[in-house]
Amino acid sequence: MTLDGTTCARNRAMLAAPMSEHEQRFELLADLGAMIAGEVELDDLLATFADRVARALGADRATLWLIDGATNEIRSRVATLPELAELRVPPGTGVVGHVARTGEVVNIRDVQSDPRWAEKIAQKIGYHVTSMLSVPVVRRGQIRGVLQILNKLEGVFTPRDDEFARMLAEQIGRALDYTTLRGDDTQRGLTLRGRFNHVIGMSPAMAAVYEMIVRAAQTDATVLLHGETGTGKGLLARAIHVNSSHRGGARAEAPFVHVDCTTLPDALVESELFGHERGAYTGADSRVIGKVEAADGGTLFLDEIGELPLPLQGKLLRFVQERKFERVGGRETLAADVRIVAATNRDLAAMANAGQFRSDLYFRLRVVEIVIPPLRERGGEDIVDLAAHFVDQFARRYRKGTLRLADAAKPALMAYGWPGNVRELENTIERAVVLCEGPTISVRDLGLERRTTAVMAAVVPSDSSLIGMQAIGVPAFGSTTAVGAAPAAPDGAITLPDDLRLEEAERRYAVAVLERCDGNQSAAARALGISRNKLARLLRP
Ligand SMILES: Nc1ncnc2c1ncn2[C@@H]1O[C@H](COP(=O)(O)OP(=O)(O)OP(=O)(O)O)[C@@H](O)[C@H]1O
Ligand SMILES: [Mg+2]
Repeated sequence: MTLDGTTCARNRAMLAAPMSEHEQRFELLADLGAMIAGEVELDDLLATFADRVARALGADRATLWLIDGATNEIRSRVATLPELAELRVPPGTGVVGHVARTGEVVNIRDVQSDPRWAEKIAQKIGYHVTSMLSVPVVRRGQIRGVLQILNKLEGVFTPRDDEFARMLAEQIGRALDYTTLRGDDTQRGLTLRGRFNHVIGMSPAMAAVYEMIVRAAQTDATVLLHGETGTGKGLLARAIHVNSSHRGGARAEAPFVHVDCTTLPDALVESELFGHERGAYTGADSRVIGKVEAADGGTLFLDEIGELPLPLQGKLLRFVQERKFERVGGRETLAADVRIVAATNRDLAAMANAGQFRSDLYFRLRVVEIVIPPLRERGGEDIVDLAAHFVDQFARRYRKGTLRLADAAKPALMAYGWPGNVRELENTIERAVVLCEGPTISVRDLGLERRTTAVMAAVVPSDSSLIGMQAIGVPAFGSTTAVGAAPAAPDGAITLPDDLRLEEAERRYAVAVLERCDGNQSAAARALGISRNKLARLLRP
């Protein structure tokens, strides 16, 4: 889901000279393939989809219908329908209802003489239909929707058209796996829930988050995303961007620029954000624009805002208030029209009280504050849905064929505390997919019960000279089920190994905490109560 992929697909579509029908068919399949490889946003693709399908098939119009898993209604998802935003058809009605029920490919020369034709659907849009080709969209053996192409411009739909439409429908079926147009797998159809590609979770806690995001996205308001590490702040920041409907959706088309405040060296933050003029300092031999300027027209995502050094907070405040800035070494005052989304897992209010974060900046940033719940508060269904999503994703990436979670794995996933949230779940499933033999992922493959023990093993070598040493327990950050305390030696005494220097003990402990945080250095540094730089020093062998 990279911005570049999306942009490339669009640019290709725009820049191309008039293409033959054959080329159009090829491009369409290639774009769907890229979408499946995760480089293109389905919604971006779908926005131009109906037109492109119609053109590639030499027809006048095309519509993609999806079955709403909640109501079984068939809803037009994208269509060349300037007259109506959406059509809803009850199950079984019309040709579309017939295809959705039977899964047949239906190629009709003249719909008026076909008994399945429902004139009232056409009447709703006041469009005269003659020929029609309808193919089912099938995903994992279930009918999820119908692709319908209307009015062949010359002649009638041929068997080659049937074949191409079938291929398209098959790709769409696969592409649907990558979106949250997903329903419960036990249900027929898909639950339509707007533009939240790749964001999984139907719990009330997440529904409230989506609601806030959609509302905030309609305005240019600054949004502060607050949540524990790995809860999806980065993903949701992007969701705000792609859902931005302000200025007719132009913001969503403009760049999304990510600034990670933890990785910026103090001395360079200002120039990174605002750019610098030639000669601003030694080595600055050309003018460089900053992230703020690069984001003009789009979204500036200030990630880990709690880590921004205090002196820079003042400079950022001015920009947040006025959207004005100067490049380092420059005199000209420039303006950038950006929406700001900031994210943090720190308690900014407490930091403001303690004088570690400017309270005026804090208030400016939290115009809309969205609290993202930790995974353990979203309920078991979200955990299992996310796990299933990651199983599919990694099974494809590692070419493992169709994989499923063992029934016993689900309660184990639900019972675990997930201190590292969705990222930890994602990593757990990735490892399990790699390790599992055969088509089923067992509880053992998940390795949840070993987690704390593995940490201790990393700290205390299994060397016999250490028997009796009190193992160092790594705190189980906020987890209710993970075991944090280590067993004490019988007499409570600590037996120290001869050869373990403090420096090395610290290093092993830091490595263990880092593993516990699924490799997230910021989270590990926070858990240890040290800076990221200090952590980096500790980790050096
Ligand atoms: N609801 C979700 N559906 C699907 N994938 C998700 C969801 N939430 C998070 N992820 C995935 O989990 C991983 C962690 O998410 P992300 O990086 O957005 O979290 P974060 O809150 O920014 O974490 P940190 O505070 O550590 O930066 C990413 O790979 C992301 O794609
Ligand atoms: Mg993040």
